[in-house]
Amino acid sequence: MRPVMRVCVLLLALTLAYVYGACVRAKFYAAAPALSAFSAPESAQPTPPARVDSNTQVRPLLESRCTPCHFAGGTMYARLPFDRPETIAKLGTKLFTRIKDEKEQQLLRDFLTQQAEKGRDQP
Ligand code: HEC
Repeated sequence: MRPVMRVCVLLLALTLAYVYGACVRAKFYAAAPALSAFSAPESAQPTPPARVDSNTQVRPLLESRCTPCHFAGGTMYARLPFDRPETIAKLGTKLFTRIKDEKEQQLLRDFLTQQAEKGRDQP
């Protein structure tokens, strides 16, 4: 092979390698925004309101105020057991006929909203 031909082949090989590399880079950068867009909805979700815990917040409140009747052994436990979140969700604001404190009502309201949302998430 003549030296000129060798140079030509070498240049051709270099050009191909460069073009190939550029293509791979372009593909990578084209894919990157798509990837971040894919994961965006998760981080973009609004932070949920402070969680009300039925065991440490709702239950002690009701237990302190509505014992013994609505708890185990009480006369109303069979019909309206207050240690079950379902009872609280079912009664809703009816509880406020017996719970007048503003802060306690707010806690129960938050809990009810939370239960309703949970029900929507998992039918
Ligand atoms: C001394 C027992 C006793 C206590 C304490 C008690 N309840 Fe009751 N509760 C009853 C009985 C009995 C009924 C069913 C008859 C009636 O409706 O009054 C009832 C029914 C209810 C009902 C059904 C709807 C209504 O208003 O009639 C709700 C809601 C209720 N209670 C909420 C509460 C809450 C909230 C507390 C605590 C702050 C509480 N109860 C404490 C005995 C009690």
